[in-house]
Amino acid sequence: MARPLPMVRTRPLDPPAELGRLRAEHPISRLAYPDGHVGWLVTGHAAARAILAHPDFSARAELQRRPVGYGSQEPAGPGIFINLDAPEHTRYRRLITGQFTVRRMRELEPRIEEITAGRLDAMERLGPPLDLVESFALPIPSLVICELLGVPYADRERFQQDTAVIASLDATAEQARAATADIAGYLRELVLRKRADPAGDLISDLARGGELNDEELTGLAVMLLIAGHETTASMLSLSTLALLSDPSQPVRLRADPSLMAGAVEELLRYLSIIHLGPTRTAVQDIELYGVRIAAGETVTISLPAANRDPDRFPDPDELLLTRPTGGHVAFGHGIHQCIGQQLARVELRVGLNALLRRFPELRLAVAQEDIGFRTDAITYGVRSLPVTWTPHVHLGEAV
Ligand code: HEM
Repeated sequence: MARPLPMVRTRPLDPPAELGRLRAEHPISRLAYPDGHVGWLVTGHAAARAILAHPDFSARAELQRRPVGYGSQEPAGPGIFINLDAPEHTRYRRLITGQFTVRRMRELEPRIEEITAGRLDAMERLGPPLDLVESFALPIPSLVICELLGVPYADRERFQQDTAVIASLDATAEQARAATADIAGYLRELVLRKRADPAGDLISDLARGGELNDEELTGLAVMLLIAGHETTASMLSLSTLALLSDPSQPVRLRADPSLMAGAVEELLRYLSIIHLGPTRTAVQDIELYGVRIAAGETVTISLPAANRDPDRFPDPDELLLTRPTGGHVAFGHGIHQCIGQQLARVELRVGLNALLRRFPELRLAVAQEDIGFRTDAITYGVRSLPVTWTPHVHLGEAV
């Protein structure tokens, strides 16, 4: 029998337990979509990777059904390649892959360190307690993606608000359309300015390259700006919460910062913040794992369930910072695998290491039960994360 997507979590950092029960029965089960469609839900790790890599599943927006919420999916505009298939997807993605390589990210690392230090200085000046989301987790990826794209950070309120509406499950189709139009209008003006007066940023480079028209370049910028800040922001704050929940972990990571790269992978697996998808729709009948998925049926791939599959990760519900995490699907898999993953990794490693070092006594400022979680958006996260620490009294200030 088809049931709706399980959403109820008993422990906030664990996926809904019902997903595990479904996975134990079969890696692919029937799913009732809110619009009445009966499609599929994938909870097994191997099945998730098989579908994400399968050429007969489409990512085109207009073919997808949403597993939650009622907003209708409109065709993706030009440039928004997350919702396009090959060969259109290939053409756009190829133009920007060079900007997100491990080597490019290594070059950016000193600047990311500087940006992080700036936020930590501001936190020290403000003093405890404060909201880590507002002071640290949201500003760092926003500043970084703004610099990379050449978007003025001063305009952040507008694009952060639009992003929140676009990513919300509660927003009506009308609200989502208005927010998308607003952010696209804003970035279109910016694209035109960069065409006339290019600088040393990604939008200017693409404008100079001449391969994209204004609509395409605007779409690409919209997608990168939206995908590039809220995801990493959620990971920074949720990771901090997960690490503070077991005080032995920050102690270990402070003692040996080289552990952080591996710890970040485990946090990505454990937290799997893209918690309600992605989705794909079959373009022809496909037989997989003994089930027949018919052309036109939508499959929701539960990344949290796949990343907690005991057949792939022993003791999957344990956060084990040094475990092997190869093959986790927190960034997806196949041709749509996250293009910003190297950037996100650097931001997380640099950000978390610097935070733990600067505030050795960092702790939650409220009881864990009082932390509000955001379940009504594509990205799982905390609404705010009140933290505190004991400020250092400098000798000069005391006398
Ligand atoms: C921890 C942070 C992040 C997580 C967990 C994450 C997760 C994901 C996932 C699961 C996908 C695959 C979606 C699908 O298969 O339909 C994806 C795609 C994508 N992500 Fe990320 N992402 C993160 C950070 C970023 C950043 C920083 C950027 C931009 C700089 C970015 C840009 C994109 C883009 C453009 C795609 C579409 C790729 C394609 O369709 O070829 N992401 N991301």
